Amino acid sequence: MKAALLLALFASSTFATTNLYIVEVADASDIPAKRHGSQPHERLYRSLQERKISFDVQKEYNSPGIFLGASISLNDVANVLSADGVVAIRPVHTYSSPKPVSFKVVSPGDPALPDSESTHILTGVDKLHEQAIIGKGVKIGIIDTGIDYTHPSLGGGFGPGFKVAGGYDFVGDNYNGHGRSYHGRFDHNSSSRSGTLVGGIIGANPGNPFNISGVAYGAELWAYRVVSCFGSVTDDIVIDALLMSVKDGMNVLSLSLGQSSGWTEGTTAVVASRIAATGKIVAIAAGNDASSTGSWFTSTPGNAINAISVASSDNTVVPQTDGTPDIPAPSGGLVSSFSSYGPTYDMYFKPSITAPGGNILTTLPVPLGSWGVASGVREQILRTSMSAPFMAGSAALLFQVKGKSASTAAQQGAGLVQPYAAIFTSTVITPAELLLNDTTHFAGPQKITIKNVGKTVQSYTLSHVPAGTAVTLSPGTIDPTMSRVPLAATYATVTFNMAEFTLGPGQAQQVVATISPPQGLDPSTLPVYSGFIYATSGNDSVHATYLGVAAPLRNAQVLDDTDSIFGFNLPVILDPNGNPQNTPTNYTFVGGNAPTVLWRQVFGTPLLRLDLVAANIVLNATISARAVPLLSFSNSHNGGTFAQVPTIGPLLEMDFLGRNDQFATRDRTFLLSNIFANGTVIPDGSYKILLRALKVTGDPKNEADYESWLSPIVGIAA
Ligand SMILES: *[C@@H]1O[C@H](CO)[C@@H](O)[C@H](O)[C@H]1NC(C)=O
Ligand SMILES: *[C@@H]1O[C@H](CO)[C@@H](O)[C@H](O)[C@H]1NC(C)=O
Ligand SMILES: *[C@@H]1O[C@H](CO)[C@@H](O)[C@H](O)[C@H]1NC(C)=O
Ligand SMILES: *[C@@H]1O[C@H](CO)[C@@H](O)[C@H](O)[C@H]1NC(C)=O
Ligand SMILES: *[C@@H]1O[C@H](CO)[C@@H](O)[C@H](O)[C@H]1NC(C)=O
Ligand SMILES: *[C@@H]1O[C@H](CO)[C@@H](O)[C@H](O)[C@H]1NC(C)=O
Ligand SMILES: *[C@@H]1O[C@H](CO)[C@@H](O)[C@H](O)[C@H]1NC(C)=O
Repeated sequence: MKAALLLALFASSTFATTNLYIVEVADASDIPAKRHGSQPHERLYRSLQERKISFDVQKEYNSPGIFLGASISLNDVANVLSADGVVAIRPVHTYSSPKPVSFKVVSPGDPALPDSESTHILTGVDKLHEQAIIGKGVKIGIIDTGIDYTHPSLGGGFGPGFKVAGGYDFVGDNYNGHGRSYHGRFDHNSSSRSGTLVGGIIGANPGNPFNISGVAYGAELWAYRVVSCFGSVTDDIVIDALLMSVKDGMNVLSLSLGQSSGWTEGTTAVVASRIAATGKIVAIAAGNDASSTGSWFTSTPGNAINAISVASSDNTVVPQTDGTPDIPAPSGGLVSSFSSYGPTYDMYFKPSITAPGGNILTTLPVPLGSWGVASGVREQILRTSMSAPFMAGSAALLFQVKGKSASTAAQQGAGLVQPYAAIFTSTVITPAELLLNDTTHFAGPQKITIKNVGKTVQSYTLSHVPAGTAVTLSPGTIDPTMSRVPLAATYATVTFNMAEFTLGPGQAQQVVATISPPQGLDPSTLPVYSGFIYATSGNDSVHATYLGVAAPLRNAQVLDDTDSIFGFNLPVILDPNGNPQNTPTNYTFVGGNAPTVLWRQVFGTPLLRLDLVAANIVLNATISARAVPLLSFSNSHNGGTFAQVPTIGPLLEMDFLGRNDQFATRDRTFLLSNIFANGTVIPDGSYKILLRALKVTGDPKNEADYESWLSPIVGIAA
């Protein structure tokens, strides 16, 4: 009974939907004076038992150096943090599977066919293929729905010697995102639509009736199936797949899944980032929802700090898929503006790069028709699902030529992926991204290193090319601006300590670029500015991309305190009929007689808490509960403080929540039960509920860094 109501949240929020958590533990060697023979997992379980915490282990992760821990269902999260060796506890997130793919089955000679190799020509992949640079010797893991390896252009078989040389099925056909996963042999084929589209973009063999080829058709593909025939996938399974792919020796990983977040946190993102830091390339769909959501909304795990989050550009040619006239695509070949989607709340540059992702001719599972054009300019998820494998294939080409640890050169700053240029450039600029942060944490002076990796002496000139400054919030409101995010014609300025120099082959020069944010903009609109620093020598030109926000992020409002979506002010307590509770009300918690806390976030928060507090608490909340008569009941309960506020006990604590979009159905609710977050029953009495959201960059220990709201009196009469 007690667990059932603990996290009863609406399904589409970014919250955990079960009481499943991923607990990360320290390596045994990290802990001095460890007990003899104590292994990290055993130590954790023993410590939980000593604390009388009931738990059920679902999966164990044992990849020293990358991730040690377990996915565990438990109720008492707060008590686990202090258990032996625990490094982090993160709720399990559910990711949407690659959205139902809209595609048109095609046959040779079909007038709807796009130019067979247009995306390869756009990026120089065709020229690399001519030089037999096809990803030979590189292993690419595809974490998706599986691949129809019976497809003749995908090798026609499975196992050593075949194109699809290995893999694993973590879910079977019937797993629906809940419960234990099925560990099966990799043998399915008809449900593998998304993975087969991805597999063809990376690896389709030439010599097919359509005269197309995958970006890296010489690479080995390994299929890790994490999505069943029905829908979603959870962190615990994706992490399993990520860790197995590393043990299998993958050099490159492609993931086309995600959930909007805006944060670089989340267990899958953390694991993906650590894998990328070991020199592998992890390409993940940016999952852009730009058309309906605006900025600060990129997906996790694509936000993983070291992963490459891939946005989509359209193919240069739009095929005639729906009986429409064959138009060059208006956006064809254009680099999508990053400003519509990112950055992250901690000011990382996501999406990191753009690759072709729309209107791509690729393989379909044989039972579904073998070949199709993944189409539809509005299907944003689909498009980034198709661009991540393009990036993964491009990385494999680079690895074939430069060796399998050349990952720094793979990402030449923002822009369209250019594997040909990345391989044949005679200049390398590092870092490729200059992260300037907000005005409080401003990192204006940036050290940049330019290296001549060519065979001749080169004379370089540095220059600055500003890009757009995105106005990410509507002036005078707390609402995000929607796509296309408006741009201000005010730019950063840059000075160099040295703007011209000459380098012999193998020589490098470090320079300092001092970047000043654009002036005269309204900081309350959170203007995100960006631009490029170019190092040019003759026709050789490389760039680093800078990104910053001309405002202190701490000032951005997190909680919606308006009535714009619901017609009554938020946050609010809803009674069992869904009406705002305006006067003190007692609840029995029987037969659905329970209150619900409803709130919306217009910006991300690193920490959100609901605490039970005394009905007579003295507290100046930042958001006042309007139209609520101020009655106070005396109350004898007492216990603890949080950020200097006396609290009785925590009801809910969530970290790294992204903002809501504009759809009321996805707003955040918490159905109260008469239990604390640790499962202990709350004594009958009169209380209030304190909602607090920490501001971005805020100090969790500083009360002034929270927005807060205090509910009307909620009586527990269970
Ligand atoms: C899956 O592939 C096998 C051959 O490997 C075939 O016998 C079977 O019919 C296929 N199943 C479906 C549902 O297409
Ligand atoms: C296939 O494409 C290549 C270039 O990408 C071209 O040279 C060749 O003629 C094409 N073949 C057919 C049958 O279209
Ligand atoms: C920006 O500053 C915040 C606050 O110190 C920090 O948490 C974040 O990691 C910084 N971002 C970058 C990209 O350095
Ligand atoms: C740069 O120019 C030289 C001759 O001026 C040419 O040989 C070379 O191919 C060019 N490089 C690129 C990358 O276009
Ligand atoms: C709620 O219950 C308490 C305790 O029984 C009682 O004193 C109080 O009057 C009740 N409040 C309301 C609004 O019914
Ligand atoms: C609440 O605000 C009032 C007016 O600003 C102030 O006098 C009072 O001390 C504050 N109370 C607390 C508990 O901070
Ligand atoms: C659970 O939390 C409440 C409120 O903080 C506390 O009073 C109670 O002792 C806790 N129960 C356990 C078993 O730790």
